[in-house]
Amino acid sequence: MSFEAKPKAARDALRFRFRGENIALSQFSTRVTVLDWLREDMGAKGTKEGCAEGDCGACTVVLARLKGGRLTHEPFNACILLLGQLDGAELITIEDLSSGGELHPLQQAMVEAHASQCGFCTPGIVMSLFAAYHSGAPETYASICDQLAGNLCRCTGYRPILAAALDVCDGAPSDRFAATAGERAAALAALADHRDVFVGDEAAFFAAPASLDSLAALYARFPDATLVGGATDVGLWITKQLRDLKRVIWLGRVAGLDAVGESADGALSLGATLTLEDAAPRLAALHPDLGELMRRFGSKQVRASGTVGGNIANGSPIGDLAPALIALGGRVVMRKGDKTRALPLEDFFIAYGKQDREPGESVVAIETPRLAPHQHYRAFKVSKRVDEDISAVMLAMRVDLDGRRIAGARIACGGMAATPKRAANAERALAGASLDAPSSWRAAREAISEDFAPLTDMRATAAYRMTVAANLLEKALIEISGAGAPTRIGVLHAAE
Ligand SMILES: Cc1cc2nc3c(=O)[nH]c(=O)nc-3n(C[C@H](O)[C@H](O)[C@H](O)COP(=O)(O)OP(=O)(O)OC[C@H]3O[C@@H](n4cnc5c(N)ncnc54)[C@H](O)[C@@H]3O)c2cc1C
Ligand code: FES
Ligand code: FES
Repeated sequence: MSFEAKPKAARDALRFRFRGENIALSQFSTRVTVLDWLREDMGAKGTKEGCAEGDCGACTVVLARLKGGRLTHEPFNACILLLGQLDGAELITIEDLSSGGELHPLQQAMVEAHASQCGFCTPGIVMSLFAAYHSGAPETYASICDQLAGNLCRCTGYRPILAAALDVCDGAPSDRFAATAGERAAALAALADHRDVFVGDEAAFFAAPASLDSLAALYARFPDATLVGGATDVGLWITKQLRDLKRVIWLGRVAGLDAVGESADGALSLGATLTLEDAAPRLAALHPDLGELMRRFGSKQVRASGTVGGNIANGSPIGDLAPALIALGGRVVMRKGDKTRALPLEDFFIAYGKQDREPGESVVAIETPRLAPHQHYRAFKVSKRVDEDISAVMLAMRVDLDGRRIAGARIACGGMAATPKRAANAERALAGASLDAPSSWRAAREAISEDFAPLTDMRATAAYRMTVAANLLEKALIEISGAGAPTRIGVLHAAE
């Protein structure tokens, strides 16, 4: 092995906390998942495998990490989480919860509420609830429903599970994890050495650069390496496509790459590795529709791991952030070597599976302008299920008003073409229309059928997609016009 391949002074072992101890691994397969490691190497079979694609939650584990100096507990799908992504974290699994022969308060509440039948989903459900138990805030009916959106239970039904959760998730955790929070945080702080990590050799490695400069140098040297943000896409390449990823560069340790800031022109800047969960409140502050979009984005597990940069860089035609931010006039910022460039988001997507990103170039931030007072915005996601489902159609629209006249519009759709795409004909047709004359919107409704030629697939037919897109356009205009017609079903959750 050539040592020149390794960044100087890089740490050559993965380090994390497990069962109260520091684990150091200097040899592991780049494609091994946390679930495989637990079940096959550690013999810890309490964490189950159901779908192996992040959908069912049977494999849920919790990672405790220090974020901004605060000890956080978040749920992750172990089936698509790469072992290397544990670096610097404390891994908590179902086996850790009971202590001294006593069940954890959550487990006891589940027993008392008769919240488990076959029990296959139960470890994952308890771990999701364990994260909620340690969230630091009392949970509500609605927040527990969101917490469990990524946990499928086929036989018990959710009522008793919700009852058990509401019984104990009161924002005041009193288990042994809470009692030892200070020591656990100190142990994690001691692991944070801010060094590059490089495990393996030139042919096959797991690397986790600690700075943007290290990332740029490493990626320039290995432009064929697979970049990993949260692995909520890449994990499935391994478990479903059985791809053998030899060179993996995980971005989760790059200092500052998850930063939230403001660009020179006042746009909101979201660092590429900002997780979808952490991005959600920032986006919700731009517009409530973005808050609702993020609430329905995947599940808690997917949002805790998936990143803003990954959602754009994957180039998916059905990704949710791309149309939402194209409509706002967003930009993607990329870096290669020491050169940084910004591109309008819509220009990044060239064709299916092809983005304007050079070898060795990484996405470092997504910037999005804020709405001016004369600009109005709407974003709608239509999917078969409300929670944890990929969009059949996603439409986002910004309308710039001059009084009641539409001076301009930006309309972007997902699920309608091979890439996230603007509806240029509909935008042109809308210019000059009046909010007070719905008949003047008709041309845009018709023009959108010239903008797209959608596919029929398992999510929707082409005809359905086309009708939905035209209807969403009109729905947005009805809402923006303030005509008062009811357009939303309302709060989907039952009483708090
Ligand atoms: C159960 C489930 C539900 C989902 N629900 C949704 C949903 O509702 N809406 C939606 O839009 N998506 C959804 N997804 C897809 C996925 O979660 C998102 O696209 C997510 O944002 C991907 O981010 P990531 O960090 O996990 O990407 P990764 O899997 O780490 O990477 C994805 C791709 O981007 C590349 N990449 C990552 N970061 C960078 C970077 N900084 N620079 C250059 N390239 C980079 C990787 O090399 C890879 O090609 C879902 C996925 C699952 C498993
Ligand atoms: S096994 Fe289904 S989410 Fe992991
Ligand atoms: S108890 Fe059987 S799937 Fe939930």
